[in-house]
Amino acid sequence: MTRRTVRIAMNGVTGRMGYRQHLVRSILALREQGGLDLGNGETLWPEPVLVGRREPALRALAERHGLTEWSTDLDAVLADDSIDVYFDAQVTSARVDALTRAIAAGKHVYTEKPTAGDLAGALELARLAEAKGIRHGVVQDKLFLPGLLKLKRLVDGGFFGEILSVRGEFGYWVFEGDWQDAQRPSWNYRAEDGGGIVVDMFPHWEYVLHELFGRVTSVTATVATHVPRRWDEQGKPYEATADDAAYGIFRLEGGAIAQINSSWTVRVNRDELVEFQVDGTEGSAVAGLRNCRVQHRSATPKPVWNPDVPATEAFRDQWQEVPDNAEFDNGFKAQWELFLRHVVLDEPYHWDLLAGARGVQLAELGLKSAAEGRRLDVPEVTL
Ligand SMILES: NC(=O)c1ccc[n+]([C@@H]2O[C@H](COP(=O)([O-])OP(=O)(O)OC[C@H]3O[C@@H](n4cnc5c(N)ncnc54)[C@H](O)[C@@H]3O)[C@@H](O)[C@H]2O)c1
Repeated sequence: MTRRTVRIAMNGVTGRMGYRQHLVRSILALREQGGLDLGNGETLWPEPVLVGRREPALRALAERHGLTEWSTDLDAVLADDSIDVYFDAQVTSARVDALTRAIAAGKHVYTEKPTAGDLAGALELARLAEAKGIRHGVVQDKLFLPGLLKLKRLVDGGFFGEILSVRGEFGYWVFEGDWQDAQRPSWNYRAEDGGGIVVDMFPHWEYVLHELFGRVTSVTATVATHVPRRWDEQGKPYEATADDAAYGIFRLEGGAIAQINSSWTVRVNRDELVEFQVDGTEGSAVAGLRNCRVQHRSATPKPVWNPDVPATEAFRDQWQEVPDNAEFDNGFKAQWELFLRHVVLDEPYHWDLLAGARGVQLAELGLKSAAEGRRLDVPEVTL
């Protein structure tokens, strides 16, 4: 085996996503397994160079994980010819500027979503990347979750017959930050800092719906800021200017209708933090992050509406668990592996900046629909 080193500048690794999912569970996990076997006698060895604004935080993080390279000078890192890939998990508002510089420097780029604050900015990034001829990828981690992989397997196997509708429920209670610390960063609740649940979650719903059921062709959304006052990381109160709940209806190519609630202001009475129920003529499924249950047409009970008597059936017990039949790796890591193979082996990869722009478009149109109180068509995005 020969070792092929890929040097990755990782910006935003002191953050929640950058640290846990991308550095620890993806890149360091790849190193712990001895690198990525490319299947051609070579092993890809990812070498992270930590990038950020605070030197002490970067140094502490590097030391904790036995890493030796970090920098607070993004321009110097981008000017370094030995760096192959630039990765971005910064706050959303800092993304376009950093990605634009990385593309101009000729680096391959891999980035968290949303890629930009609006469709025009997201498309511009995609165009710049194509013009420069670099490889580019955008995180679409939900596609690689065990529950959704099993759901996709059902779709591909024709389990549903004609798919009629998809109902998604995402959310949990995010503490206000006064009497218990908030479990998400405060910028998420300030529109002026790139926050808001539509901007955060609609990009996910776009690729989940698109890849499993069909492209979104129209959107109707209602949004709310249910909790208008929160407390930040320093314990200071601030006005929540961004939406913390969104109620969306999406028409899909092929005719199915999807309806997804996204909320940081609900308490969970579900098996998982996100669940999708898919109803088709031949059967239905409920998929979450890890699990997926089905009910076939042949095993569908015939409930009779009668409020005068207690429920006689345990409806949730009438579903069958879909077996794993495979080992599922962390979704972020699985997508990193495909991106790195795309970079070094030129394997096909379609979760790119154009796909990222579709997510930004759906968020933009969702917010516009809510502001104008009407259904909006979602035109197909092209470069
Ligand atoms: N794929 C997913 O499921 C998923 C989930 C959550 C967040 N995200 C995305 O990941 C990105 C990071 O989110 P997070 O929750 O990790 O945020 P976070 O606040 O925990 O981390 C943000 C990172 O950006 C850095 N940063 C750079 N410029 C900054 C600035 N001007 N102000 C503040 N911080 C700055 C911070 O130091 C930190 O490293 C966001 O774009 C978000 O949309 C993706």
